Amino acid sequence: MILGIETSCDETAAALVTREGRVVSNVVASQADLHAGFGGVVPEIASRRHLELLSPVVAEALAEGGAPLDEVELVAVTSGPGLIGALLVGVAAAKALAWGRGLPLTPVDHLHGHVASLFLEPKPVEPPFVCLLATGGHTLLLDVQDRSGYRVVGTTLDDAAGEAFDKGARLLGLGYPGGAAIDRLARTGDPAAYDFPVARVAGLDFSFSGLKTALLYAVRELDAHELERRRADLAAAYQRAIVRALVERTRQAADELGTDRLAVVGGVAANSELRASLGDAAFAPLELCTDNAAMIASAARYVEPLPSPAYLHLDAFAAA
Ligand code: KG4
Ligand code: ZN
Repeated sequence: MILGIETSCDETAAALVTREGRVVSNVVASQADLHAGFGGVVPEIASRRHLELLSPVVAEALAEGGAPLDEVELVAVTSGPGLIGALLVGVAAAKALAWGRGLPLTPVDHLHGHVASLFLEPKPVEPPFVCLLATGGHTLLLDVQDRSGYRVVGTTLDDAAGEAFDKGARLLGLGYPGGAAIDRLARTGDPAAYDFPVARVAGLDFSFSGLKTALLYAVRELDAHELERRRADLAAAYQRAIVRALVERTRQAADELGTDRLAVVGGVAANSELRASLGDAAFAPLELCTDNAAMIASAARYVEPLPSPAYLHLDAFAAA
C-alpha cells in the first residue's frame, strides 16, 4: 500500500493506492472557499490551512481505506513544483510519517503526478501517447514514452489555460476558481456571439494573455445590466477560444510526433467542451483531473524511492 500526500496549492489531499494502481481511498479537502474572497490562492493562508488539515485528511484516508498505518509500505509526497510554503508542509509531514516507521519515501513531481492519473485502475492508459497537461499553473504538451516520465514539447509563453479560465471568470464576476463556473455558464450561451482571438505562436507553444485582454475590453463596453444579459455568451465564446487553442496544438503535436494516441490531464481536463472536442483522446477520470493524492501515489510506482533516513535532507522546489 502506498500513502500519497499532496499539498502543492490549495488542496490538502491524502490517498491510499496499491502497487497495482487500485485506488483504495482518495480524500481531498479543498481550501477554495477560504481563498475565494481574495480572488486567488493566498500562499501564506494556504500553508497554514495545510498544517491544520493534513493530519485529519491522512487519518481519513487511512480510515476510509480500512488500512491502519502499519499496512503502508511507502510514503509518496509532492516535492514540487508549487507554492513553496504549502509544499513544505506536505514534505515535512511525509518525512515524519516515513521516518517514524522506517519506511522509504518517494518525492514526486506534481506534473508527473497529473500524467500518472492516467495509469490508475480500472482503465489505465498505456504509453506511448502525446499528453496535454492543462492546470492552473501549467499548460504543457508532453511526449510520454513510458510511465516513469515525460519530455516537454510545448508550453505556454504567458498564462496557463486554467489561469485564463480563472481570470476570465473573475472578469465575468463568477468568483474563484472559475473554470468550472465558466464551463457551466457556457452551456447556456452562444459561442459565436463574440469572436475572441486565438493567439498563434511559433512551434508547439501556447499564449493566452491576449485572449484575456480581449475579454476585458468586451466586458468594459457593457454596463451592469448588459453584462448580466451577455454573460453566458461571453463565457461560451471565451471558453470556445481556449478549447480551440488547446485542441489545435494538441493535434499538431500528435502530427509532428507521428502518433494518433492522445491523452489529457489536469484541472482543465474536467472541461466538458474540451472533453467533447477531443473525443478520440483518453481523459483522466473527472475526480482525478483536479489536484489529488491518488495521482501522486500512482506516480511513485515508477520512481526510485529514497531509503530511510536518506530523505531527511529532501527539499521542496517551487519551479521546475
Ligand atoms: O490541476 P489543478 O487542480 O491545479 C493545478 O495544478 O493548478 O487545476 C486547477 C485549474 C483551475 O484553474 C480551475 O479553474 C481549472 O483547473 N478547472 C477547469 C474546470 N475545472 C477546473 N477549467 C475549465 N473547466 C472546468 N470544468
Ligand atoms: Zn495540479
